[in-house]
Amino acid sequence: MDIQSKYISLEKALSLVKSGDIIVTGLGAAEAGLFMENIHTIAERVHGVTIVNCNPTHPGQFYAPEYAESFSVDGWFYATPMRKAHAQGNMAYIPNHLHLAAGKWLYRNKPNIFVAAASMPDENGNISLSTSNTYEMRMLNAADVVILEVNPNFPFTYGDLIVPAEKVDYLIRADYPVPTIPDVPSSDKDRIIGRTIAGFVPDGACIQLGIGGIPNAVAEFLKEKNDLGVHTEMITSTMVELMKMGVVTNKYKQICNGKMVATFAMGKQAVYDFLDHNPNVELRDGAWVNDPYVIAQNDNQISINTSLEVDLTGQCASESIGSRQFSGTGGQSDTAIGAQMSKNGRSIIALYSTAMVKGPDGERHEVSKIVPQLQTGAAVSLSRNDVDLVVTEYGVADLRGANIRQRVEALIQIAHPKFRDELWSQAVEVGILGRR
Ligand code: COA
Repeated sequence: MDIQSKYISLEKALSLVKSGDIIVTGLGAAEAGLFMENIHTIAERVHGVTIVNCNPTHPGQFYAPEYAESFSVDGWFYATPMRKAHAQGNMAYIPNHLHLAAGKWLYRNKPNIFVAAASMPDENGNISLSTSNTYEMRMLNAADVVILEVNPNFPFTYGDLIVPAEKVDYLIRADYPVPTIPDVPSSDKDRIIGRTIAGFVPDGACIQLGIGGIPNAVAEFLKEKNDLGVHTEMITSTMVELMKMGVVTNKYKQICNGKMVATFAMGKQAVYDFLDHNPNVELRDGAWVNDPYVIAQNDNQISINTSLEVDLTGQCASESIGSRQFSGTGGQSDTAIGAQMSKNGRSIIALYSTAMVKGPDGERHEVSKIVPQLQTGAAVSLSRNDVDLVVTEYGVADLRGANIRQRVEALIQIAHPKFRDELWSQAVEVGILGRR
């Protein structure tokens, strides 16, 4: 097969889009940067095109209200431009547990075009989907037309994301850098929380770290550990550092022994350099990696995620602020359930006790993230039944086996001191407790 004949220009690729098409692009760094940054240029020619994306990394103009007749956007996980597009009415969130996202979406939709960023073809004509196989291979198999932006900067990763060029209709040459997430320096609060959580991670444990600042900071405190394993949704910069240091060896994993397993990777450039042709890391189908029954096969699986608000019974609103979609469920529930089913596993939610939130007066006010009731309309990303430990800078609330009174006590104990009295009164006021 002549791979060269598959190369087309970006303009030609965009000309394949028809009115009414559904276009799915890759997650995070696997978003097709050239295609998505330029699709607005065909706005006058098409109408009713649906773009489906997930935590995108490129600044597409197609979200703008002036293109609403041409494009609407559906998303599995919101990032900044999607929040804005949502407010402007041109964007809809697709509720999902990550491991079921692709399967359920395909139950009611068919992608006309799948377009994603990928590695260069190797000498055998194989292309790696590079930074993500969260849903990408399933979409590629289901799409009428498959277009890959092949890019020498994208790592050739292993797992079940290698595509023979015969399965691809068109290739576009790209050379933009892989989108990165910069390191955010840990705060004092991060360090307290990180140290506390590290106390719950025994040597040989298998970890999952979620999206957000705190899970990342936790990794700092895992440097003292030995022989950790990683079975996670997202490979982060800190996980790669732990593996380079020899802290993560994956030696005691029951499944994929010796290998770090994830569905996607996003971090510093060093992450992508590490993943390139690395046989010790596998990016596999999100439907498999995040399946709680799969996660549970590793002993001592510790899931560490974060949340926007936790109520006094343990319910976690991790993806919306009231009814306003902020991010997505992602694998929070998948990984927490899998961890609880794992032998000696546990599910941890770590969050600051307070947040600075803009009030109606335009000023930022400090609010408690531990609340009697979640804000009206908030989506419960993680049920109270699936949280073992909640950690803030004030300590740990162990909710395992705890009744509601014990939960209220434990959670108020780790709330910011200035909100504790008020929380007690509110707990009674709203009927969580009959008396203090
Ligand atoms: N009320 C109102 N606003 C709040 C809030 C609250 N209780 N808590 C936080 N916020 C605001 C913050 O002020 C911040 O606003 P800003 O962007 O204007 O500064 C914003 O929400 C984000 O908060 P932050 O704590 O910085 O978020 P993060 O980047 O650490 O991410 C989650 C936290 C919960 C949003 C993120 O982890 C997530 O989406 N989780 C769900 C998916 C998941 O866990 N997947 C796991 C598998 S990878």
